[in-house]
Amino acid sequence: MLPDNVKIINFITFYRIMKRLRLFVFVCIAALTASAQKANYNIIPLPKEVKADTTQQFTLKDGIGIAYDSSNTEIARTAAFLQQWVKEATGIQLQLAPEDKAAQIKLAVGVPAKKGKKAKQVAPLTEQQKEAYTLSVGAKGILLSATEPVGLFRAAQTFRKSLPVTKDSKGVELPYVQISDQPRFSYRGVLLDCGRHFFSVEFIKQFLDAMALHGCNQFHWHLTEDQGWRFEVKAYPELAKKGSLREKTVIGPGNMRIYDNIPYGGYYTQEECRDIVRYAAERYINVVPEIDMPGHMQSALHVFPNLGCTGGPYSVAPHWGVMREVLCGGNPETLTFLKTVFGELCDVFPSKFIHIGGDECPKERWKKCAKCQAKIKELGLTNDPKDTGEGGRGSQDGRSAENKLQTYINHEIEEFLASRGRSLIGWDEILAGGLTENAIVMSWRGTKGGIAAAKQKHRVIMSPNVFAYIDHPQLKDYSKQPQTTDSYQVSCSKMYSFEPVIPEELTAEEQDCILGVQANLWTEHVAYPEHALYQLLPRLGAMSEVQWCNPEQKDFEDWKKRLPQLKRLYDRIGLVYCNEVE
Ligand code: ACM
Ligand code: ZN
Repeated sequence: MLPDNVKIINFITFYRIMKRLRLFVFVCIAALTASAQKANYNIIPLPKEVKADTTQQFTLKDGIGIAYDSSNTEIARTAAFLQQWVKEATGIQLQLAPEDKAAQIKLAVGVPAKKGKKAKQVAPLTEQQKEAYTLSVGAKGILLSATEPVGLFRAAQTFRKSLPVTKDSKGVELPYVQISDQPRFSYRGVLLDCGRHFFSVEFIKQFLDAMALHGCNQFHWHLTEDQGWRFEVKAYPELAKKGSLREKTVIGPGNMRIYDNIPYGGYYTQEECRDIVRYAAERYINVVPEIDMPGHMQSALHVFPNLGCTGGPYSVAPHWGVMREVLCGGNPETLTFLKTVFGELCDVFPSKFIHIGGDECPKERWKKCAKCQAKIKELGLTNDPKDTGEGGRGSQDGRSAENKLQTYINHEIEEFLASRGRSLIGWDEILAGGLTENAIVMSWRGTKGGIAAAKQKHRVIMSPNVFAYIDHPQLKDYSKQPQTTDSYQVSCSKMYSFEPVIPEELTAEEQDCILGVQANLWTEHVAYPEHALYQLLPRLGAMSEVQWCNPEQKDFEDWKKRLPQLKRLYDRIGLVYCNEVE
């Protein structure tokens, strides 16, 4: 037992410590809150050049005007976005002040020719230069400037991401700064598979917003699968109505043929697709639609069994995997069907890129089908003894006559798309039977398909599964995350480490063939929007630096330090994400 006076002294000491502690906590919170009111330009993806002067600041507060040219609808739209984003992040209400020379925020597009002087003839801008912008904060206020409206939109996103995420802020301190920026690659994509699972138009808009936040500009929309046809084709009203519906869906990670016995469906009308295209375009995202053929077509075969080698019947697949039932390569109706479908696709999607799939098309049926073999004979296609190894899963026999038959179909579709002013993209299996003249290769089975294509001077998009497949787990411990495709891990650090231009393999000219990089979200095990976002984020933050930044800028430890600011914005705008980073 302690004497009472000792107890009292102990209590007084304890009380004094607590008081000091409270004061310390209070000072810490105040300091944190104060620093949270300041902008930080070290955002994701990191701009090319940030020259900040933290000794001087501009105070952003209610009522400040945004001046812009209201006759330009694109600029006016970006002005409205900027106003909305500032309000969302900070609570500050800016005013739209078109043509107001006194406004402290100015949006400027284009370099006007000096009075009395003709604009100089200059080389056309590259796609990346079109997206370039500068952002400056100084004594006179804030200037967002770009050559093209798209650059202005990128500048506005950078401004938004630099802001602290606060509540009802009465003012935000913006250190003086000069930022100049442009992306490394012209193609910065994300794929969403809406074939395995259907996602609402509303969710796709949220997905597009998340893409725009990360500077992405290509939404690869995977619209058809063995498990569901999601694109309305007016010439074939039954195709989406029946082809979108499967009777049941396999349950669990192992594709073990245990089913939920719940019918599942959904498709997009052409009007909905046009709405998505419009929404994406307003955010400077192009929609690349994919109709995956001649494999992954069981949903279409269910509706049109005459297009298969055996005549069916076929069901819309209730489980995952590579199906041996594919479009018949020898039936002339196959090409009629494909040209009708791709024709309507071109009507709806203005994209210069149209994706024709081409992956995982086993040739088992074609080898035994009288029509396919007759077509091979008619075209004089032969089996080359050499296996190039380019065929991959489902078409391992390299330059076989059957793989060349696939090339023949690709060629027909390439010509058809060219007549509509479009270019064909295909998964790297399209190398197997020989590339068609202008095909763009999307390299998914590692980078070797992309390298082979670039060596043939074909354009390439790198999307290698081991670095870019975000259906895979992002954490080592599976129990910490929702069920996913349970094989290798694609952590943030793994994704971040990807270098798509491989100088050891490619000459400078061949390196120029690499258009960019894409992350792919396959959805066999992703049925809900929250799960889709969880798979996407924050990995898209890592991918965005692969897509946007130069290699010498990249530093994963630094990226991790910049992430909390982005996560606060995710929280504010309702984007679900994985909270751990490996
Ligand atoms: C693919 O992952 N089958 C392109
Ligand atoms: Zn056939």
